[in-house]
Amino acid sequence: MPKLPKLPAPPLPPPLREPPPRPGESNGKGGPIEEAKAAGINVVDWVDERTSLSGAGRWLMFRKVPKGTNWFYTLGSATMFAFLSQAVTGVFLAMYYRPDPAGGAYESIRYVTNDVFLGQFVRGMHKWGSSVMVILIFLHMGRTFFFGAYKYPRELNWVIGVVLLILTMTMSFTGYLLPFDQRAYWATIVGVNINGTGPLLGPYLSDFLRGGSEFGATTLSRFYAIHMLLVPGALAALIGAHLYLVAKLGTTAPPWQKAEKRSELREAEV
Ligand code: HEM
Repeated sequence: MPKLPKLPAPPLPPPLREPPPRPGESNGKGGPIEEAKAAGINVVDWVDERTSLSGAGRWLMFRKVPKGTNWFYTLGSATMFAFLSQAVTGVFLAMYYRPDPAGGAYESIRYVTNDVFLGQFVRGMHKWGSSVMVILIFLHMGRTFFFGAYKYPRELNWVIGVVLLILTMTMSFTGYLLPFDQRAYWATIVGVNINGTGPLLGPYLSDFLRGGSEFGATTLSRFYAIHMLLVPGALAALIGAHLYLVAKLGTTAPPWQKAEKRSELREAEV
């Protein structure tokens, strides 16, 4: 039998090549910040090994953007941030709110405003944040309209956007009743009546909103359920779909951005 050649020994892996640090010497790993970074990376690695989600994360986060992308393109993310801020402050308000028309709702809001630690601040953030979100969503819609971003192949994202706009307005409408003061009560009566004037579906819609033909005992809890469960859930799901389409299709270049000519065409022109 022919003698097989002897293979050279494989190189030692780096940790085995370095001598261990002597007492009092640095082990070359850096300070606590480096350690913290390494710990973070380890956790991400651990999750990724079990879920393979890092590919999806990279696909979503590291996208190519067209030349000429500018500050107007941040309006969608700003709207999303406003929504997230509303969701977080809303959770804290829900910890104290009672949808009880016999004085409980008004009293619970008074309590949050005057007695709860930072309650007035959180309520203020939620109240002003709602206007901020409405302003931002209109600016974002204007941006996508004027940049022609609603055209092929982004029509579906525009349609999802329209539903997001309607849901955002529904949030404003249903939230307005919750303080249950005189202004909230009468404004909602007017708003529901306006809904009732809509063609065909109008009367059914206003009956659904009131929970009957008159503003009654269940109207407030109905508004509260729509405001804090139904619509935010739909908003979150649709924002997910909206962002998926943005990542998949990419964003539109500004209309004044001219396409670069391919080099062979440029040569042909010369
Ligand atoms: C909760 C509301 C909304 C959120 C969080 C949101 C979020 C976003 C984000 C983050 C983008 C990426 C690019 C950018 O920011 O401009 C985007 C793109 C887009 N959005 Fe929205 N959006 C919302 C509402 C709307 C509305 C109301 C419309 C229109 C009716 C709309 C239509 C579009 C379109 C067409 C694009 C594609 C833009 C492009 O290709 O350049 N969105 N949205």
